[in-house]
Parts: sequence; structure tokens; C-alpha cells
Amino acid sequence: MSFVLVTGGAGYIGSHTVVELIQNGHQVVIVDNLSNSSYDSISRIEYLTRSKVPFHKVDLTDYSGLDAVFDQYEFKTVLHFAGLKAVGESARNPLKYHNNNVIGSINLLRTMQSHGCKSIIFSSSATVYGDVTRLEGQRIPIVETCPTQPTNPYGQTKLAVENTLRDVFAADQQWRIAILRYFNPIGAHSSGLLGENPHGVPDNLLPLIAQVASGRGKFSVFGTDYDSVDGTPIRDYVHVVDLAQGHVAALHHLDGLKEGTGICREWNLGTGTGSTVFEVHSSFERASNRKVPYTVATRRPGDVLNLTADVSRAATELGWRARLTVDKACDDLWLWTERHPSSGYQNVDGRVRLS
Ligand code: NAD
Ligand code: WQD
Repeated sequence: MSFVLVTGGAGYIGSHTVVELIQNGHQVVIVDNLSNSSYDSISRIEYLTRSKVPFHKVDLTDYSGLDAVFDQYEFKTVLHFAGLKAVGESARNPLKYHNNNVIGSINLLRTMQSHGCKSIIFSSSATVYGDVTRLEGQRIPIVETCPTQPTNPYGQTKLAVENTLRDVFAADQQWRIAILRYFNPIGAHSSGLLGENPHGVPDNLLPLIAQVASGRGKFSVFGTDYDSVDGTPIRDYVHVVDLAQGHVAALHHLDGLKEGTGICREWNLGTGTGSTVFEVHSSFERASNRKVPYTVATRRPGDVLNLTADVSRAATELGWRARLTVDKACDDLWLWTERHPSSGYQNVDGRVRLS
């Protein structure tokens, strides 16, 4: 039997993707070190899909641990989500990020190679583009051929892995490599059973707004002096379930290539439409039916005016387009926030039971 390996499958995007993969008939094995997730998400995946999902608590920087997993299964493809993702922490501790994200990915690729598995879908990020609006001749929406210039160590690790993948393909064109550059993933599963549950304080916009709506912490808008309709920056917020389905589309694209054909290609996964911070804030207030107080702060260092994807390559080549709106993502995130015991707002009556 042939399996799909999902590294980081207990995490936010990985767990949603595992559900979509299983619902599309794939046999999934998860590897995760649970550094930013917990076994709870495996239970939730199993509950949602009514299936048992083999799970191995392995750190990708542990070559022999990973090799032992590859000894147990025949993997046709690896979906590689495992990585650290906090931009600010990466600036304070770049070696932690390079070790985890780059060495971990190299170990994975070496293990794949030694076991004859040459198909991988890699979680890259729009952060590899850096500040596109400063580049001569480049414009929004961002196309995949835009030069890459990451402005933080996290982005450098993503670009380093992309470059490694391109080198691997140049040396052996049997490899099938999909590099997916996500824009701003948001929302949760519409069941209220899966969502983002990071360790520590979140630093992304929507998890923060959700915390404040449920009575914890404070929310600052980082700058209202940008050149946008309301002065706040513009991002391409994409629903995590759309994103998960983008991975299934990429997998089917790789599987559908002619026998003996390889590929190494980048695809943007976004909606193609930008929203400002104030637009997202209003959408969340509507979804939660609560006021979310904020203060206006100065610009956050490294923030750029606009990151919006050109999504035509994914539409044409993968047959994938995002379908869900920011409003729907806010509805789903609020349901998750209300129901999930550790997300900051406990609704005892609405708490989900998993058995
Ligand atoms: P997440 O932290 O929820 O999930 C990542 C998972 O990987 C976690 O479960 C963590 O425990 C695991 N992990 C980390 N290092 C590991 C290691 N060395 N060995 C084994 N497991 C390890 O993050 P996410 O939001 O689901 O992101 C998934 C991927 O997508 C990451 O690579 C991230 O860089 C990338 N990405 C995320 C975003 C975003 O905004 N969420 C945007 C673009 C790209
Ligand atoms: C979104 C907008 C902030 C927090 C990051 C990574 C990127 C990708 C997605 C992984 C910005 C504003 C935020 C707050 C605010 N991740 N904001 N107050 O910075 O677009 O992208 O996550 O790959 O690589 O860089 O996302 O959610 O942090 O910010 O006003 O407390 O919300 O200024 O305009 P960002 P974000």
C-alpha cells in the first residue's frame, strides 16, 4: 500500500490538509515533533475523518528517527509542513530557525532520496518575495517569477529550502517538486473541531483579534498611515480549508504527470484579493457579534504595504482557486474560538466531545 507522509501534520495548515487528503482517498502518515502542536489535533483529525491515522513523534533534525519511519512505509509523496514560522522569533534566534527549517528539510530530502521517494510538496511563503513594491518593474498582484528578497531569517530559511529543492531537481529531473507559496492563511474548519492552537502568544492578526474578542490580551493596529483606502496594510487572507484543498490539487497534479516526467515549480496560493487590517477587524466583529477594542500603534518594522497574490498560475495549472471569503473565515475562526477549551474563550455547554 502506498502512503502520503505529512510532516507537521499536527499543526494548523497540516491538520486541515490531512483531513482533505483522507477525504480524497489518500492513506496518510503524520510525523511531527509537537513543538507547536499537540496530540489533540491527531484525535480531532481521526474523529472528523472516522479513520485511524498513523502518527510518529519524530523531529526532522533526527535523521535516524526519520529513516526508521521511512523503513516502515512506502511513501509515494511527502507534504512537508514541519517548520518554525514566527518572524520575530527568527530575528532573535536565527540559528534555531536555520537548524530546524533548513537542516530538518535537508534530512528529509536525504531520507527520501535513500528510500527512492522523489515527490514532495513544500510549504513556502509569500514572505520570500519581501517588499515587492520597492522593486523596479514589479507590481501587485505578485507573480511567481517576481525576484525573491526575504527581509527576515524565517523568510531566508524558506528561500534556502526552495533553492535546495531547485538544486535537487537540476541534478535529477525525475523529482516531482511543488513549491507552494502561501499568502496569509486564516480561519478554521467549519465543524469547529480543528483550528490554530499555537503554543505561546500568537503574533498573526486574526488569532490575536480572536483572543481579544474572547477577553484576553490587547490588540494594536500597526500603522494607519499606509497608502490604502483606510490607511492600514493590505494582505491576501486565504481560508485554511481552501489552502488545504490547494495541496490536494498540487498532489493530483504531480500524480497526473506522464510516467518518467519530473517537475520543479512554484505556485502562489492566495485568493487574488487584498483586505486591509480594518476590513478584517470589522469582519471579525460581525462574526463574533462583539466589539474588539484596539489602539493605534506605529508601523511594525519590516511590514510592507501590500502582499496580494496573482493566482492565475495555480488556477490554470492546478485547477485550484480559493472559494471562501474572509467573512466565512472569521465565522469559522469564531466557532473554533468559542468551542476550543484552550483558545481563550470557554463555552462549557458548547465544548466538543471527541468520543
Ligand atoms: P504550525 O506551527 O501550526 O505547524 C507546523 C508543525 O510542524 C507543528 O505541528 C510543529 O510541531 C511541527 N514541527 C516544527 N518543527 C518540526 C521539526 N523539526 N520536526 C517535526 N515537526 C516539526 O504552522 P502552520 O501555520 O501550520 O505552518 C505550516 C507550514 O506552512 C510551515 O512550514 C510554515 O512556515 C508555512 N507557512 C505558514 C504560514 C502561516 O501564516 N501560517 C504562511 C506561509 C507558510
Ligand atoms: C497581517 C497584518 C500587520 C498583528 C506573516 C508572515 C508571513 C506569513 C503570514 C508565514 C499586517 C497587521 C498584525 C497586530 C496588526 N507567515 N497587524 N496588529 O506579517 O502579513 O505575514 O504571516 O509564512 O511570512 O510574515 O501577517 O498576521 O502578522 O499581519 O496591525 O497585532 O496585520 O501590520 O498588516 P504578515 P500578520
